[in-house]
Amino acid sequence: MLRLDKLTKTYKTGDQALKAVELEIPQGQVVALIGPSGAGKSTLIRCINRLVEPTSGKVWLGDTELTELGAGALRRERRRMGMIFQEYALVERLTVMENVLSGRLGYVGFWRSLTRRFPQKDVDEAFRLLDRVGLVHMADKRADELSGGQRQRVGICRALIQDPALLLVDEPTASLDPKTSRQIMRLICELCAERGLAAIINIHDVALAQMFVARVIGLRAGAVEFDGPPDALTPDVLTTIYGEEDWVATIDKVEDEEDTLDPEAVA
Ligand SMILES: Nc1ncnc2c1ncn2[C@@H]1O[C@H](COP(=O)(O)OP(=O)(O)OP(=O)(O)O)[C@@H](O)[C@H]1O
Ligand SMILES: [Mg+2]
Repeated sequence: MLRLDKLTKTYKTGDQALKAVELEIPQGQVVALIGPSGAGKSTLIRCINRLVEPTSGKVWLGDTELTELGAGALRRERRRMGMIFQEYALVERLTVMENVLSGRLGYVGFWRSLTRRFPQKDVDEAFRLLDRVGLVHMADKRADELSGGQRQRVGICRALIQDPALLLVDEPTASLDPKTSRQIMRLICELCAERGLAAIINIHDVALAQMFVARVIGLRAGAVEFDGPPDALTPDVLTTIYGEEDWVATIDKVEDEEDTLDPEAVA
């Protein structure tokens, strides 16, 4: 459903961030994208919705080739791709509800958005989503009054209210403590499963990726170095992706976490 065909990005500085990346992600599949700093993870995510313009290669979302679209058509297609960032990117002085509804701006007409008058069905859906992530009682709070984990939940609702076919997630847990990180990862993966949504989750924490997704893609220096199930990420493979380190410790950590993981603790 998402297909990257020889996707290449060379920045003006000469940095080759992506080197002819080939990738297919079927409908409903959640993929973790791992790799060292500078491997090209953010560039890959941003080339898909063309926040970064690819140098060459093609991106297909379903039957649509995103890389050949003009500005208007691209704007419409972007509605099908929800984005969740590390830095939450909420509007601080707006309420939780207003931040969630801002995800509908790609649909609501200009004048309506200017006066912030959204159709009742959008407001109802925003309440449903906030309820799903456990924040409905905070709908009227200002974004700057929330904790990091709560802000990320608002970011998730804002991405989902677009009713996307694909979620692009760039380091959703980088600013969160370990427990909150796990809750947010679990929430994103559950919501994708409930909605049959495909997702690419760019994540630094290998152990966290291994806990929640069925497919991991390892990027190194702009090329796919690994593509497989999490249990195939052996110390040797991790060394190829990241270089030398003590991966046995990481793998032990995953096994410990699996022993103690409480599947009910979603809240
Ligand atoms: N706007 C830019 N202009 C020039 N070079 C860039 C730009 N953005 C990224 N790069 C370069 O492209 C390469 C890939 O960067 P990218 O941000 O995609 O990596 P990343 O895997 O997301 O890293 P991190 O884990 O640190 O977020 C790096 O060499 C980086 O310096
Ligand atoms: Mg990045």
